[in-house]
Amino acid sequence: MDKIYVSPSILSADFSRLGKEVSRVVSCGADTIHFDVMDNHYVPNLTVGPGVLKSLRRYGISIQIDVHLMIRPVCDRLILDFINSGANCIIFHPEVSDNIVKSLRLIRKYGCKAGLAISPNVSLDFINDFINEIDIILILSVNPGFSNQTFLLSSVKKIKQAKILIEKSGLDIDLSVDGGINIKNVSDVACLGVNILVIGSAIFDRSDYLRVMKEIRNKLKNFL
Ligand code: DX5
Ligand code: ZN
Repeated sequence: MDKIYVSPSILSADFSRLGKEVSRVVSCGADTIHFDVMDNHYVPNLTVGPGVLKSLRRYGISIQIDVHLMIRPVCDRLILDFINSGANCIIFHPEVSDNIVKSLRLIRKYGCKAGLAISPNVSLDFINDFINEIDIILILSVNPGFSNQTFLLSSVKKIKQAKILIEKSGLDIDLSVDGGINIKNVSDVACLGVNILVIGSAIFDRSDYLRVMKEIRNKLKNFL
């Protein structure tokens, strides 16, 4: 089986020293960074934009950064801003996009990976319809908007279905899960065939990032 990537979500980091926080998790073994963008429309919360991503790059963060756009409507101008600010992968929610294919192709045109995020109340039909246009599927296992929520067991069925869709397609598409993953359930989620685990509070709410990353890797040792 391929390696499972651990992608810390900045949402739970201390934003007053984001560069240091991201550097620390990178040096403790993060594989990619998950950059949550919230607009107070798609979700009832606000976070950061392309300027902050650019600052992280200027600070010296060179690891892959996956931008999770929780914005309504999806906006191609902002997508371009994120690409120009150093995004490697951009994932958006299809049910709030006016032109899904146009945005996916725009992302890929600039060498970024393109992805669709599926919220708990949204059908996987979007994946079926656009499977040839995507590099990553992000299944939300909480209602998006906040970190430190409980993993929704109803998402297990969706993760399994997404895995089947990927296998049937024969395409090289990453399967990522976002929300409520912690030390206790991380290996159960990995068992579902997921290859990128987004983890926020279970990492950043602990003071010793090296220790928690080691604990996570230990839980995943049978998958590596
Ligand atoms: C939820 C975000 C997640 C969240 C994960 O809206 O998309 O990335 O920060 O945080 P935890 O792991 O604490 O659920
Ligand atoms: Zn996210």
